[in-house]
Amino acid sequence: MIDKINALLAEVDGFETQSMEELEAFRIRMLAKKGAITALFQDFKSVEPSQRKEMGQRLNQLKQSATQKVEQLKSRLEAEAAAQKAGKDKPDLGMPAGFNPIGSRHPLSVVRNRINSIFERIGFVISEGPEVEDDWHNFSALNFPEEHPARDMQDTFFVEKQPDIALRTHTSSVQVRVMENQKPPIRTISPGRVFRNEAISARAHCIFHQVEGLYIDEGVSFADMKQTLLYFAREMFGKETQIRLRPSFFPFTEPSAEMDVSCSLCGGKGCNICKYSGWIEIMGCGMVDPNVLENCNIDSNKYSGYAFGMGIERIAMIIYQIKDLRMFFENDLRFLRQFTSAI
Ligand code: PHE
Repeated sequence: MIDKINALLAEVDGFETQSMEELEAFRIRMLAKKGAITALFQDFKSVEPSQRKEMGQRLNQLKQSATQKVEQLKSRLEAEAAAQKAGKDKPDLGMPAGFNPIGSRHPLSVVRNRINSIFERIGFVISEGPEVEDDWHNFSALNFPEEHPARDMQDTFFVEKQPDIALRTHTSSVQVRVMENQKPPIRTISPGRVFRNEAISARAHCIFHQVEGLYIDEGVSFADMKQTLLYFAREMFGKETQIRLRPSFFPFTEPSAEMDVSCSLCGGKGCNICKYSGWIEIMGCGMVDPNVLENCNIDSNKYSGYAFGMGIERIAMIIYQIKDLRMFFENDLRFLRQFTSAI
């Protein structure tokens, strides 16, 4: 029996495997009910009483070594399998990067940012105000007389049962707030969303965006305005751009004008964008009416100023040759994705 024990001990010590199946086979061969070691325990009953102690110890030792061996190999093989699996999940740093589509700015934001930065470069500061306005800031302070048909120029959305409160029809309202709260010199532009009760079509919408500008100081002249707007037109549409001012009317400016720029697509020769006139109308402008200055507590004998206002959609339509204004509001990804590279 001692020989059997020694033989099995040697086998246990020498056993090595890389496979779970082989290990399991080993465990069954040694330790299962019909295994070699279990069989020895059966034989133990017939051992001479004088040898029992020693034999018992050796037998227990064998069983312990075999159990330990199985445990050790099992945990090592499990750890190896786990490490191999983790290795498979580890990212391959040499692989080319995956394509992550990034969003893009809305074309109106792109154009607004460009307009803002053109004016910021010459000292204009951005100001913002509420979209729901009172009559004073949207109309009265801007010299729209009560019941005057000039109010009809801008079809207004009034807030129900509050005739004095409306969605602003232009961002000139922001400039009234600036004049009320700041002393000249004032140089500000107010970008923002405005609302007019108009039927939606390819050329008009009930929501659109404006950038309006205001410059007030001592001795500001029409020539200053013209020069500033020429600078703007050339920065926006290109160095060769020409401007043209046509007389117009706004309640808050006197004299007032509409400004056209020479068509940047055909260089003034005439094309379907400028409707073969060579000119495209882009904004209203004029010298701030003294009544407006006085309404905002600015001394109109000491100060003068100019104001201008343009629609961002209109500028964007010219620059990107967009034919339908509604595109800006539909959020069709096929349209928006075309501006991915614009900043
Ligand atoms: N507020 C005018 C509009 O919305 C634009 C404008 C601003 C015209 C300043 C002249 C001077 O149409």
